[in-house]
Amino acid sequence: MIILSIDTSADETAVAVTTGRKVISNAIFSQIATHTKWGGIYPALAKRAHEERIDWVVGEAIKKVGTIHELSLQKIGYIAVTQGPGLAIALEVGIKKAKELAQKYSKKIIAVNHLEGHIYSCFVQNSAGNPKREFEFPYLALIVSGGHTILAIFKDHLTYEILGETQDDAAGEALDKAAKMLGLGYPGGPVIERLASQVENKDFHKFPRPMSKSKNVEFSFSGLKTSFFYYLNKLNLPQTSAVEERSGKTAEVNNLAQLASSFQAAVFDSLLIKTELTIKQTGINKLVVGGGVIANMYLRKLLRDLVKKHNGEVIFPPFKYLTGDNAAMIGVVAHYKAKKNLFVSDLNKLDRIPRLELA
Ligand code: KG4
Ligand code: ZN
Repeated sequence: MIILSIDTSADETAVAVTTGRKVISNAIFSQIATHTKWGGIYPALAKRAHEERIDWVVGEAIKKVGTIHELSLQKIGYIAVTQGPGLAIALEVGIKKAKELAQKYSKKIIAVNHLEGHIYSCFVQNSAGNPKREFEFPYLALIVSGGHTILAIFKDHLTYEILGETQDDAAGEALDKAAKMLGLGYPGGPVIERLASQVENKDFHKFPRPMSKSKNVEFSFSGLKTSFFYYLNKLNLPQTSAVEERSGKTAEVNNLAQLASSFQAAVFDSLLIKTELTIKQTGINKLVVGGGVIANMYLRKLLRDLVKKHNGEVIFPPFKYLTGDNAAMIGVVAHYKAKKNLFVSDLNKLDRIPRLELA
């Protein structure tokens, strides 16, 4: 069954066409350029950009497969759409479009939780059906995105038990805020990764690892952010640090890279400490990791080393576009929901749930 899926939860207008776990086409319009100067997502602009682009992105997703499969909207089986969590006014745009298409072409709608999408992103396949890995439940699922940091047991299809989540900022959000303080723009994760790799990802400043001693699986990144802020104030860094970096002044670059690397080390260390604790507490050593932050190659290495120590394995999203927000992962969740007849029964009652939980 072919599914057309839509995700407008944050700053990407994303539409995909999938069948089972296979992605037939994936289209995305990124608003990053719109939000860069604000140092984060600016909701009213996100809404407007989604509205302006959604028809175009739907058209792209259809067009990409149209020539090969003679696909038209009539041939789509179901429409899937992200219901939450995310920005309310952004989610609304996708839901409105999904309803419009469902009514026009008499299709059923499947409402999908964006967080489930990030977990299933590890199992998405290309159009040839690769990678072929099968599900072997249970897994530990770690979600590390701009809005969430969650550790859960992925027990079976669509079944999760949350073990812990962040009490304040998410890991990606912390990286974004640190990058903003350093004058590095938005999103912060990729530029911090690049700077940190220049100094071999070392930890120079030993910023605090909040909650690392406690035996529960909660995360917290706001204390780290505050201590970073005070540290920078004490240093009296020139506001132009990013510009200095570009102009290649070695001393400045080192300074900046050391700060970025140390901050990243503190964030990743927190993730590692709690993931290891969870492996020990549950005895589950198979890990799936989704969300924008897992684009980070150093974090992947740290997690690979961790599971190796526990004779386990870790699964990441197999293609880079699956780490950030995308609609392909939404379509794959929708496939499993369709198998269980989990359709929206009354379109009028379908509404966004900005704070939707994983379980
Ligand atoms: O999953 P995502 O695209 O959106 C949400 O659902 O939140 O995650 C975005 C987050 C941002 O905080 C961004 O800085 C972070 O993912 N990110 C990275 C990298 N690429 C994106 N963090 C660390 N290293 C990266 N290479
Ligand atoms: Zn996301």
